[in-house]
Amino acid sequence: MCGIVGYIGQEKASDVVIKGLERLEYRGYDSCGITFYNPEESKFITNKDTGRVAKLLNDNHYPDNNHLAIGHTRWATHGVANHQNTHPHYSMSERFVIVHNGVIDNHKELTFKYLHDYEFRSETDTEVIVNLIEEFAKKISVVEAIRKTISLLDGSYALLVIDTNDTDRIYAVKNKSPLLIGESDKGIVLGSDVLAFVNYADYYYLLEDNSVITVERIKDKFVFEIFDTIGLKIGKPEKHPMDFVTDELDKAGFEHYMLKEISEQPTVVRKIMSEYMVDNKLRVSPDIKAMFHQVERVYILAAGTSYHAGLIGKIYFEEIAKIPAEVFIASEFAYNEPLIEPKSVFVLISQSGETADLRACLMNVKEQGFKTLSITNVPTSTLAREADATLNIYAGTEIAVASTKAYVGELAVLAILARSLSIQHSLDLVYEMSRAAVAMENIVDKRDYIHEVVQQTIKGEHCFYIGRGIDYFVALEAALKLKEITYIHTDGLAAGELKHGPMALIEKDVPVIAIISQDHINNNTRSNLEEAKAREAKPLVISLENTSKGNDDIVLMDVHRLLSPLITIIPAQLIAYYKALDLGVDIDKPRNLAKSATVE
Ligand code: M6R
Repeated sequence: MCGIVGYIGQEKASDVVIKGLERLEYRGYDSCGITFYNPEESKFITNKDTGRVAKLLNDNHYPDNNHLAIGHTRWATHGVANHQNTHPHYSMSERFVIVHNGVIDNHKELTFKYLHDYEFRSETDTEVIVNLIEEFAKKISVVEAIRKTISLLDGSYALLVIDTNDTDRIYAVKNKSPLLIGESDKGIVLGSDVLAFVNYADYYYLLEDNSVITVERIKDKFVFEIFDTIGLKIGKPEKHPMDFVTDELDKAGFEHYMLKEISEQPTVVRKIMSEYMVDNKLRVSPDIKAMFHQVERVYILAAGTSYHAGLIGKIYFEEIAKIPAEVFIASEFAYNEPLIEPKSVFVLISQSGETADLRACLMNVKEQGFKTLSITNVPTSTLAREADATLNIYAGTEIAVASTKAYVGELAVLAILARSLSIQHSLDLVYEMSRAAVAMENIVDKRDYIHEVVQQTIKGEHCFYIGRGIDYFVALEAALKLKEITYIHTDGLAAGELKHGPMALIEKDVPVIAIISQDHINNNTRSNLEEAKAREAKPLVISLENTSKGNDDIVLMDVHRLLSPLITIIPAQLIAYYKALDLGVDIDKPRNLAKSATVE
């Protein structure tokens, strides 16, 4: 979703900002722009348009000695993706320039109340913010005008603001949308993700909501200060070194990040095992175990792929830990809360740790006094920091929009959590997970075969995945993968439901892919597949050695039945990948999607 980057310092500011925006491209966007101070012309220049960040760099001139810039990648929320709606936005007199990540819910009311004399050039909610700052700055200082403006805003926002009368300062604000500060001897960089700081910062700082920041050049030094919304100075937050592995950010010889990330999945499982291993057992910390003492019910909240991991998490909580669990889509739970048992614990699952729907839930349930545990891939993320406790999935940076290795990481950590909470389940997780990692490797190695299967089977505009029990939940995730990167309409169905309606869509050669990893429902799913075949569907079976029959198309090594999702999802991820490859679509950045959904 939208990404922002700002820089003031000795480096070429436009380069820092454009490289930073490139690092944020994985979040998904449809237009981008930059405003920088051009010392050759002694004025601020803005370049912006729809399309890729590379175009922003290649189509424009940036003098070497430019020292201050702000930039933005926009994922359209208010107004279509076009030149006018692309950030940065100017105030009406062009004194102020702004980039904004988030959504302002009351922008119409604010326009009506304060800005009736203002002309707007875009359809965005952002232009309201910059014009409010301009309006208030007529009578009070810029920083006061910014504070007054944000006191009126309802919604989420990370903002960078430039006053064009001041070539040495950037103002920033953070509330509910991510914003961090990076620091080096050469300058200060601001951005929505620490990845934007790679090569340009030695340290980074996480910011709390309702922070107002000024970043400025004082003589030949570059400094920042943080204030609260009434103007009181806040001490600097903890300093974190930029010590994460930058190799993760490269494709390591793979054509796409998605294939690289699919291939990394066995390593992710092994990494998780090494991180959670205590006395030869896989365990969470005693503090986290204590959160579940006498718990009556666990509520799992998540979105998209993480929600699909949550569905399997429910099975783990109930079968392994014997704790009743419910799973909710975060955007539904946030505004339609069910009746909750008093002794409940909330488990929030999110790769990014920044999903706004989930954060809204976190705020609600914390306010009600419930204990919260987040499971994320980003230990510095908002959800990791704001939940009572957090578990890291150690998947390493996931760049492709289609989530793969984070899904298996979430499953593995959910299994470890459930096993740690169980009193006497016989599941030997160390042994079973090690076997699962081998089985995962085995299927990744056979990816060329999956490509052949795709070329023979996946044709036309529709596709169905079917399964029962745990396989049904994998079918949901498998369908999401195929639809999001190939744009082929795909549904994941409980196999028994096919005959209750969806069968009407089955006709000659529509692929129906059955996932069959559970012995007790093997024949039932096969019967449902036969019903589809009788309507001339093109069948494809993904099974394990001990559930396979006759000519099953993809037979995977046996693993413990509860860990089968770690394995059965991999051919489905590869099917999606190879179909997208053959269709020639943008695999890592599918249309209309964002990696990190930071607006509700
Ligand atoms: O970062 P999160 O896990 O909270 O993201 C949730 C969804 O937006 C995400 O899983 C999305 O569905 C993926 N693009 C699916 O591949």
